[in-house]
Amino acid sequence: MKVAILPTISTSFIVISAVLVAIGWYHIVNGRQKQHQTLMLWGAGFALAFFLIYASRTVFVGNTSFGGPEDLKLAYHLFLFFHIALATAAGVFGIITLVLAFNKKFARHKKIGRWTAVMWLLTAPTGVVVYVLLYLLYPGGETKPMIDAILGV
Ligand code: HEM
Repeated sequence: MKVAILPTISTSFIVISAVLVAIGWYHIVNGRQKQHQTLMLWGAGFALAFFLIYASRTVFVGNTSFGGPEDLKLAYHLFLFFHIALATAAGVFGIITLVLAFNKKFARHKKIGRWTAVMWLLTAPTGVVVYVLLYLLYPGGETKPMIDAILGV
């Protein structure tokens, strides 16, 4: 069996990041600011590592197409779109949440941070479902290098 090593690593990073964010949330609800800050920064670090792996894979290797049955294709793509929209929104909200925290605007940080955390906690499981559908349940489809497409080679 061909192991899709980079997607496995990047999906694990999303899961680790979400677990850190969940624990970080638990700490701040219990008033532990130092632990909250540390866990959220590690959570953001793993999210960034995921994004860097995903983005470089997209540019240098390409995206894997869905290798499952034809009649699941539409449902898969709708689900994938939902996951990407969530992940993108969580990324943008994550940056705003961090900026507000470092500027000590904690009231707004708290309000927006809740949305960020909820979005990220949904991004992780939906990402795992995409990974399972794309790499575990069905053989992955063709991979088209984006850079080849751009350069026309
Ligand atoms: C992307 C990373 C972060 C996320 C997603 C996040 C999320 C949250 C959430 C959800 C709350 C509200 C908890 C609740 O009452 O339900 C909160 C509160 C808070 N966060 Fe963060 N946080 C992040 C990073 C940070 C950092 C780096 C700091 C420190 C510089 C920080 C400091 C605080 C403080 C002081 C509060 C309490 C605010 C208050 O009760 O008025 N957070 N954060």
